[in-house]
Amino acid sequence: MVKIISVANQKGGVGKTTTSINLATSLSAINKKILLIDADPQGNASTGIGISYENRSPNLYNLIVNEDLDLNAIKKTIVPGLDIITANTNLAASEIELAEVKNREFVLSNLLSKIEGYDYILIDCPPALGLLTINALVASHSIIIPLQSEFFALEGISSLVNSIELIKESFNPNLIIEGILLTMVDKRNSLSSLVEKDVRDHFGETVYKTTIPRNVRISEAPSHGKPAILYDVNSSGSVAYIGLAREILEKQGLTNE
Ligand SMILES: Nc1ncnc2c1ncn2[C@@H]1O[C@H](COP(=O)(O)OP(=O)(O)OP(=O)(O)O)[C@@H](O)[C@H]1O
Ligand SMILES: [Mg+2]
Repeated sequence: MVKIISVANQKGGVGKTTTSINLATSLSAINKKILLIDADPQGNASTGIGISYENRSPNLYNLIVNEDLDLNAIKKTIVPGLDIITANTNLAASEIELAEVKNREFVLSNLLSKIEGYDYILIDCPPALGLLTINALVASHSIIIPLQSEFFALEGISSLVNSIELIKESFNPNLIIEGILLTMVDKRNSLSSLVEKDVRDHFGETVYKTTIPRNVRISEAPSHGKPAILYDVNSSGSVAYIGLAREILEKQGLTNE
């Protein structure tokens, strides 16, 4: 059965897209079939995986407004086993158009229920708690929350946790937090360590043991249209994302028993 995971945090620039791309690639590398969904009008996941603007038609916007799964929207990527549904700026209009639709929270969920043949669907959410993120969370089994290891990391997470509770109550009772991922960790920086301790004290086992270090190769990779794992597999960032994929599979193995 396919497992659908949203990578979400309404805070901007915390590593949602980087995590979506590199986790998707790491899972593909261990022979899982992955569909990445770019649910952000910024289209960063599409760009970062090397899909040009010309090759983004149809995209998530068309699927949402037509409420129809056009299989032409599923594009192959340079990573074997990893496909993507792309996005570009037109997706922003879907927030407004969805507002008029009956059962507007379930449009993505209905689309994804028709997709077969993947082990995981990962949804890269936009930095907002609007209808696109709500659709992603309603469609998902679980959510990965990237948290940037900085002073304000925990600010705003309570509103995200509240939103998750509301979505559970109203639309998707089985939604769980898959895990909280500390990103851009700088072990030499004592503040980073304090934030990590704070987050672990607060959220306990929900926080992944794996943390993602601040690593320049990770930030360079998108401009080459490649996941960091392909750009430089030996970089500390790539190694960390491969470790995260392992940890997620191990955790799932445990819950399946
Ligand atoms: N571990 C890391 N080390 C260094 N740079 C990183 C790391 N993770 C992310 N970045 C960089 O930080 C910036 C923000 O990351 P990313 O785009 O993944 O965040 P986001 O949460 O998706 O942002 P948005 O909210 O705009 O969608 C990018 O320039 C990215 O390359
Ligand atoms: Mg992003």
